[in-house]
Amino acid sequence: AVTRTFSIIKPDATRRNLTGAVTKMLEEAGLRVVASKRIHMTREQAEGFYGVHRERPFFNDLVSFMISGPVVVQVLEGEDAVKRNRDIMGATNPENAEPGTIRKELAESIEANSVHGSDSDENAKTEISFFFSDDEIVG
Ligand code: CMP
Repeated sequence: AVTRTFSIIKPDATRRNLTGAVTKMLEEAGLRVVASKRIHMTREQAEGFYGVHRERPFFNDLVSFMISGPVVVQVLEGEDAVKRNRDIMGATNPENAEPGTIRKELAESIEANSVHGSDSDENAKTEISFFFSDDEIVG
């Protein structure tokens, strides 16, 4: 079925001017950008977005990294969008990611790993509505 997922192009990628390169890989994987905006997250936004990771040892570093520069938040649409996006992103740690994936080809480290993508349809809905209103999404 055609579904939607949520994506973030992270500060390490925007810093290296890779917004287009990442988006091209998403598009070539069969995903369509139906909403997109460049933002600089506040600490409160980043802490709220990553709330499920609050107890993890890397939480503070993760939040600091995510507010270290601009990001591009996107809604992606396509057949089985969550899985399609996870496949093209590759493993969280770029060292473990398959060749041809965004993280293998572009990411710097497990923290500076260039992209975030929702891990389930349910989380996709929550994450999309964290950053976008319905009228900002044009399919
Ligand atoms: P993301 O999909 O954005 O969700 C949580 C993020 O935490 C993850 O990608 C990683 O970039 C980041 N992170 C930083 N350190 C770690 C770690 N040791 N294990 C897992 N994720 C980490």
